[in-house]
Amino acid sequence: MKQAKITVAGAGNVGATAAFIAADKGLGDVVLLDIVEGLSEGKALDMAQAKGVYASSGRVVGTRDWEAAAGSDVVILTSGLARRPGMSRDDLLAKNAQIIKSVTEQVVRTSPEAMIIVVSNPLDVMTYVAAKVSGFEKRRVMGMAGVLDAARFACFIAEELGVFVGDVSGVLMGGHGDDMVPLPRYTTVSGVPLTELMTADRIEALVERTRKGGIEIVNLLGTSAYYAPAAGAVKMAEAMLKDTRQVMSCCVYCDGVYGIKGEFVGVPAMLGVDGVEKVVELKLTAQEQAMFDASAAHVRELTEKVDAMM
Ligand code: 2OP
Repeated sequence: MKQAKITVAGAGNVGATAAFIAADKGLGDVVLLDIVEGLSEGKALDMAQAKGVYASSGRVVGTRDWEAAAGSDVVILTSGLARRPGMSRDDLLAKNAQIIKSVTEQVVRTSPEAMIIVVSNPLDVMTYVAAKVSGFEKRRVMGMAGVLDAARFACFIAEELGVFVGDVSGVLMGGHGDDMVPLPRYTTVSGVPLTELMTADRIEALVERTRKGGIEIVNLLGTSAYYAPAAGAVKMAEAMLKDTRQVMSCCVYCDGVYGIKGEFVGVPAMLGVDGVEKVVELKLTAQEQAMFDASAAHVRELTEKVDAMM
């Protein structure tokens, strides 16, 4: 039986971690690609040796040659610069747009049937670039951010309430930026709405910490987070490879939902064998819709900027 094939472009912190998680979960054969000589080869060799300790079925091949990616089912794009302290994700726009354009061209050439999961920032616009350059059906191009942001929200809630994080379902929408829109009304702990378990002040404090979750880590590490972003990307890949039809917040093409006409932005989406199976439309209050509109407008502004560059 043919093993699934997952290519991870970029063997930096996020890419290497995603490759390791995907292989460890036995999702399929993993190809880890990077232009830096020895980087993906060395990390893949190290991962293989980790299997000498904890044996797992997944194989990781490290290479600089895109031919090795041929016929991938899923390609995770992590290539590009990560932010440093003092930088916003938007500061990465020009450089990362070029990088995503060039790696997407390789995906088109080697894996024309693949699903593309973008991780590089600024996420929503980089997802738009991958969709525009690839010309793939929109259901096959998506961005990982909402899974990460919702996971952060859930982690902070679990810590505050002293509950198992797996019992917390964090719900969030909008662009992957400081104007993202966590939705406490739809967030639950063991099925109980968060708004029944926490005061409005404490909820707002955790919403704010979630919005700034990325920069909190950048300021500690000097570079961007990578364990949680990598786990988020693999969760999306797994949902498609196993056709789980799980609903998670992802950056997907919206055309006629939440007041959006033909743009990529973070919304609750069902992922399955066909990629984005559907967008789930939650009923929003006027305030939630206004926050979402502002976040989507910020994404639109960056998309217009990147269009002018390409
Ligand atoms: C983050 O929020 C890297 O954008 C990612 O950590």
